[in-house]
Amino acid sequence: MDHDSAPLELDDAFVQDPYSVYAKLSTEGSAHLVRMPAGVPLVGGLPVWLITGYEAVRSALADPRLSTDLNRIDGLFAQKEADRSKRGGFSSVIASHMMHTDPPDHTRLRKLVSKAFTGRAIQALRPEIQKITDELVAALADHDEVDLLDAFAFPLPIRVICLLLGVPVEEQANFKSWSKALVSGTSPEEATAAATAVAEYLGELIERKRRATTDDVLSALVSAHDVDDRLTTTELISSAYLLFIAGFETTLNALGNGTLHLMRNLDQWEVLREDRTLLPGAVEEFLRLESPLKHATFRCAKESLNVGDVEIPAGDFVLLAIASANRDPQRFDDPHVLDVRRPAAGHLAFGHGIHHCLGAPLARVEVQMAFGALLDAFPAMRLAADPEDLRWRNSTIIRGLDSLPVRLNHR
Ligand code: HEM
Repeated sequence: MDHDSAPLELDDAFVQDPYSVYAKLSTEGSAHLVRMPAGVPLVGGLPVWLITGYEAVRSALADPRLSTDLNRIDGLFAQKEADRSKRGGFSSVIASHMMHTDPPDHTRLRKLVSKAFTGRAIQALRPEIQKITDELVAALADHDEVDLLDAFAFPLPIRVICLLLGVPVEEQANFKSWSKALVSGTSPEEATAAATAVAEYLGELIERKRRATTDDVLSALVSAHDVDDRLTTTELISSAYLLFIAGFETTLNALGNGTLHLMRNLDQWEVLREDRTLLPGAVEEFLRLESPLKHATFRCAKESLNVGDVEIPAGDFVLLAIASANRDPQRFDDPHVLDVRRPAAGHLAFGHGIHHCLGAPLARVEVQMAFGALLDAFPAMRLAADPEDLRWRNSTIIRGLDSLPVRLNHR
């Protein structure tokens, strides 16, 4: 890859408005060489192929030549990035779960985790999730103006994940502060320290579940087996860590992004207030319009491949722009418009192919319940900031706001 030919940097202007960049790039094709800004942890300064447009992104998501194997990616970083001290390397806890492995390891890990994280397990959680949602909404009622992310969208998925993993209530406060450091920590070191603390805590919790099984997904994961196969301790901690990390920021931003668009399109808020049967479809539309993962996790090319008429050489890094696919005018009419009645099925917000989101059924339950509760409790909710003043978080993968001030009982 020629480092000097990267024409475009994915800088803050891109973070604030990626859609105009996707639209411009898409007129030129589907594969574009871009450069990561210098300050980005791990990949700063590196050239990357950005894939845009629905068909190209969908087929790349399912392309076995594109690897998510973190050990492979780590090796490539090491070759391309002379100064290894700038990046910390990956701990086995982060690198030993399904999202960062290729088949056959991926197949084995996903199968074992799926045995614990079943549709039945999620359905059984519904009453508890409703209870958590109702409690959080009731606590909001004391306030006139809140940051909806901080007061609602952040604690909801954390509490659901604690429920899933069987974290005792009295130990949940730590979990909240680690999660806070992961989302809004001021330095990569702070985020790494929080990730390590979560992993250590999970290791200890797993030991407790081994001694005394409880009725939760983590206990089921500890005993999940397939013929003679079961998860090693590292794989167990790593898989539990994945459920936490994959389920928390995504759901947080699904709630924030959906609320932002409803507040900017109050006619659509009214449509939902009048007809709750539209809610499941509306949630798919929020996910399409402002996808919480704007890009899938990093891939690298195991062998060279063609995207359109561009050849991506073996060993290059690839970013798949889910958010561009979901606003592709060739696939969705008026793609930048929120329309809660639109058939948004087929969007790629949960990915596609072997890494398709394992938690999608849980995410749908959580997000639908959350919007139902907000519509019931705060029918007159309004944005408490000029939309132009809201800032998007500086992240390569995540699409989420820094904060979302709302007035709950606007009159
Ligand atoms: C994978 C999105 C919620 C667990 C993925 C992927 C996407 C995604 C796009 C594929 C990433 C890639 O191919 O690089 C979302 C969104 C969510 C959400 C938008 C919320 C609205 C959840 C929840 C959980 C979860 C609640 C579990 C608690 C997972 C797991 C994978 C995954 C385990 C890895 C699957 C694999 O590698 O085989 N998610 N997710 N997700 N998600 Fe989610």
